[in-house]
Amino acid sequence: MSDQKRLLESLYNEPDTEKILYFLESEDSGVLRELYSFADEIRKIYTGNAIHLRAILEFSNYCRQGCLYCGIRNSMKIRRFRISPDEIIEISKTIFQKGYRTLVLQSGEDPFYSTEDYVKIIRGIKSLGNIAITLSIGEKQEEEYRAYFHAGADRFLLKHETSDPVLYSRLNPGMSLTNRIKCLKILKSIGFQTGGGIMIGLPGQTKKSIADDILLFKDLELDMIGSGPYIPETGLFAEDISRIQEELTYKVIALTRIVTKNTHLPSTTALSVVNEETARRNALSRGANVIMPNETPEKYRTLYQIYPNKKRTEVSSADFLQELRELAFSMGRVISDERGDSLKASG
Ligand code: 5AD
Repeated sequence: MSDQKRLLESLYNEPDTEKILYFLESEDSGVLRELYSFADEIRKIYTGNAIHLRAILEFSNYCRQGCLYCGIRNSMKIRRFRISPDEIIEISKTIFQKGYRTLVLQSGEDPFYSTEDYVKIIRGIKSLGNIAITLSIGEKQEEEYRAYFHAGADRFLLKHETSDPVLYSRLNPGMSLTNRIKCLKILKSIGFQTGGGIMIGLPGQTKKSIADDILLFKDLELDMIGSGPYIPETGLFAEDISRIQEELTYKVIALTRIVTKNTHLPSTTALSVVNEETARRNALSRGANVIMPNETPEKYRTLYQIYPNKKRTEVSSADFLQELRELAFSMGRVISDERGDSLKASG
């Protein structure tokens, strides 16, 4: 057994900061090859060959928060939209009819929708048939989270973005990492299949803090973890920066797989923005097992620009789904037609 392989086994059995850092910092192509192929083995053991699709519906770009990295933050002078509860249910029906068995309802933190609105939306969608609902609507009160769960919502996605508390407060004015983590714990305790994730390559983010992020994913016993490269708003988007972030993102996906084992890991939209051609294939062969096609109707989707160049490639169409099936087939994988629930016993 090579030294690398021994270290990977030990990372798998007893993860710690130092072992994770070794791989995050390595630029040796041989070491990275071993890391990726080990992550792929672990993915296969815990998730099999199924690739799960999660349709995303972005239903409002109003946001009360001012996160510095985000293109729909409150201070941005952009055209805003919100889709009415009835229309959300209507669109969800077409998504269900296309065959999706998971729907992710995502929006900015928009206080416009009341708890009753969400209950109506959730019940309306659940009455369509067997489809899992993931909410991705930000920080709420415990009672609100409970009401969504009791109405039938299955999952909740709330990324912690970075586990460095100082960086977190700087990037998310008026918010705190402590409250974010508290929300995640509440969601878990209510019974949601809970998703988290980080951005990779944030200005001021260290590799040590990324290692802490990966250990935090494990501590929180998250069911799904979506991590993607940070995409700067303007000109800084030099090719070499994005290449570094792309590689670092693969490392994070692989290490997250090895450390957290039975989790759902998407190849994120942001990753496809930095490499439209091969990112998805790379991520899927380095630990990922999920793809999230964007099913937001075009007139709204173009207004939901969290970051620049959010690609048309993620836009779902018959062609796109066919492409994914072919991609899966060429990798010895298969696009699942099931919900793809939590892989954890309690999920
Ligand atoms: N680059 C990459 N990802 C971003 N997100 C928000 N802004 C950016 C950006 N500039 C991600 C965050 C958020 C998710 C909806 O989009 O991780 O949780």
